[in-house]
Amino acid sequence: MNFWSQFEKGFTCLAPMEGVTDIAFRQVVAHAARPDIFFTEFTNVNSYSSEKGRPNALERLKFEPSEQPIVAQIWGKNPEMFAETVAAVRDLGFQAVDINMGCPDRHVVATGGGSGLIRTPELAKEIIRAAQSVPGITVSVKTRLGYTKADEWRAWLTNILEEHPAALTVHLRSKKEMSKVDAHYELVPEIVALKNELSPETKLIINGDIKSAADAQKFVDQGADGIMIGRGVFQNPFCFEREPKEHSKEELIDLMRYHLDLYEKYGLYPYDPLKHFYKIYINNFPGASDLRAKLMLTKSIAEAREIIKGL
Ligand SMILES: Cc1cc2nc3c(=O)[nH]c(=O)nc-3n(C[C@H](O)[C@H](O)[C@H](O)COP(=O)(O)O)c2cc1C
Repeated sequence: MNFWSQFEKGFTCLAPMEGVTDIAFRQVVAHAARPDIFFTEFTNVNSYSSEKGRPNALERLKFEPSEQPIVAQIWGKNPEMFAETVAAVRDLGFQAVDINMGCPDRHVVATGGGSGLIRTPELAKEIIRAAQSVPGITVSVKTRLGYTKADEWRAWLTNILEEHPAALTVHLRSKKEMSKVDAHYELVPEIVALKNELSPETKLIINGDIKSAADAQKFVDQGADGIMIGRGVFQNPFCFEREPKEHSKEELIDLMRYHLDLYEKYGLYPYDPLKHFYKIYINNFPGASDLRAKLMLTKSIAEAREIIKGL
């Protein structure tokens, strides 16, 4: 069974985001407006493959059955470790796994993983094949247009499509462009044509600066299959609504309360990283910046709850 074939054209994905899309935040997004597909934060295959790192890897891969359909994202550069981790991910109950070939973080790139794989195309192929050799799970790839320049896209995406991943997410920038230039939407029709020529069965997911699920049709009209939204969820946690609505201050604060409850329920810690999320909820209403400033001084979930009590 191909995981990706269950979705209608125009499907939406919440992007994998390290330090953001953990088990608590994914459920917050599901509660606000559910995407069709969730992705986990990325997990390093080296950590799963080492006795010392495994508990942490398993922690990062925790999910609730209600979060299905969910894709586990993994990264690294060793094909054997990929095969081992893909089998483990399958045994945890994931029906799909995604290989990160786009992360620009210098620590990740220094290991040869993430977007570092764009510079070792043969190894990237070997990794896809190693993952595909594991039965019972669907393999996809998420990447960028190239390493240095966007115009590397044809050679690089050809290299990936020759391995026929079940889905391919393209963040429409090169590694070097980081997020500093506009996403290269003008390339979508040509990327679609290349995909249809080399691997028509691969689902093409467009990523980069998309703000709303309501934009999915625009990309479907150009031949893409789905869209992925990352940072858009920070500006609007309801961004997966197909028909965008206005949301009140009360709804936003209720969402924050829900996040606090989930953070506590799953025993996520330390407290401080949770504060990065507050700007999502405490935003766009009178008095929001003062309230945010107070929340930044809190040292516990209990203190934060006290500040938003009755609001
Ligand atoms: C805080 C943060 C963490 C990210 N972590 C990951 C990750 O673990 N795996 C991945 O493939 N991409 C990661 N990304 C990239 C996003 O998935 C996405 O490709 C990128 O943000 C562009 O999409 P957007 O413009 O919709 O945000 C991360 C991005 C951000 C902002």
